[in-house]
Parts: sequence; structure tokens; C-alpha cells
Amino acid sequence: MIIMDKLFMPSMMCVDPAKLCETLDVFEKNGIGGLHIDVMDGHFVPNLQLGTDYCRHLHRLSKLPLDFHLMITEPEDKIAWFPIQEGDWVSVHAESTNHLQRTFDRILAAGGKPMVALNPATPLCMAEEVLEQAAGVLLMTVSPGYAGQKLVESTIGKISRLRKMLDERGLNHVRIEVDGNVSPANLVRMDAAGADMYVIGSSGFLKSSDADEIAAGIAEFRKTVG
Ligand code: DX5
Ligand code: ZN
Repeated sequence: MIIMDKLFMPSMMCVDPAKLCETLDVFEKNGIGGLHIDVMDGHFVPNLQLGTDYCRHLHRLSKLPLDFHLMITEPEDKIAWFPIQEGDWVSVHAESTNHLQRTFDRILAAGGKPMVALNPATPLCMAEEVLEQAAGVLLMTVSPGYAGQKLVESTIGKISRLRKMLDERGLNHVRIEVDGNVSPANLVRMDAAGADMYVIGSSGFLKSSDADEIAAGIAEFRKTVG
């Protein structure tokens, strides 16, 4: 049984741009797993967020791996647009492409770790055929597009069902990332259900932009999941 270390992935759309470098320094000093980048194209989700140049800046400003969350249409044709480096995670929505396998192949060729993302109402079977190649599954615990939304209750049971599906296939090295309204209370439930990678935004330690408060918040969250 592989015991997965728990990873905290701050949602960069929730980081105060005026304090980006200071906040990246706090992340590096406090054991953050990677930088979650919500790329939104205004088609797959009703919002525009964080483009390719922003990703390039993050690779220049921080040594932490990037955790690309591609909320874009035809991702198979756009993987080359992104500065994917060895060790970066790249989540692509099963709902956003007719060519999930081709997208996975292109992420792997770029040196990335492919993950399949599912919106709250998308069944787990949409991820089934790529689980053997996946570094993880990103389960949206809110409907994607905006920070500050409330948990979709049914996603807690979905986390448990996915963990069971992975363990039954001997895939306990495949991560379960949860994204949306990861508050202290929801973190306890998500962790108990089998998640091991948490996108933290305005519901968690990024509700503040103060460096000391963020550092204290990371320590609090770490204490909760061990
Ligand atoms: C939702 C975004 C999340 C969100 C997380 O579409 O992908 O990353 O910003 O932050 P909160 O805690 O505000 O849900
Ligand atoms: Zn996200």
C-alpha cells in the first residue's frame, strides 16, 4: 500500500498580484507541493483567467512545480502553448475534448504528469480509460470558473468511490486532487474520503494576503491532515 504524502496546492488566481514574490517565498518556505494555475478561456468555463505568459513568469519566479488546471476547449491542440517542465502536473477536463488520449500523449511528451479532471456532475467512468497513465484525478468540488463558491455535497461520496475504484485496480499511487471550497471543515471530510492533494484558495489560507497569516494557515491545514 503506497502512503501518499498530502500536497497543498495554492490556487494562484487567489494570490494578491501585488504580493506575488513575497507569497511565493512563503510557499517555498512552508512545504507547498506546487502552484495551482487555473487557466480559463471563457468558453469551457464562463470566466477568463491566467494565461500562458503568467505560467512562464511563475516558472521564472519559483522553483516549485506548476499544477496546470486547463479549463479550455480543444486542449489537445494547445498543450504546446504552455511552458510545461519535467515534474509539472497538467489537468485536462474529460468534458473539454474528444481526444483525451491524444491530450495525455502530448502532456507526457512535454514531460508533464497528466491528470484527468471531472466536473461535479461528470461520472467517474469518464476517467476510467486513462487511469493507468494518470498521475492523478482532479475532482472539482465546486462548478469551475470562480473562487468563493460552495461545496457540491455529492462530491464527498465521489471522492470515496474514486479512491475505491483506484485501489481495486492497484492504482493507489494515483493521486486524488480536490479543487473548490477546501475550507478547514471540508478538508477534514475530503481527507477522510481519500483525497491527498488539495487546491487551496479563498476558503483556506489564501483568504488573507498577509505572509504571516498565510504561513500560519498552511501550518493549520498541515495539522489537520498530518
Ligand atoms: C474554481 C477554482 C478554484 C478556486 C479555489 O474554479 O478552480 O481553484 O479558486 O478557491 P476557493 O477556496 O475560493 O473555492
Ligand atoms: Zn483549479
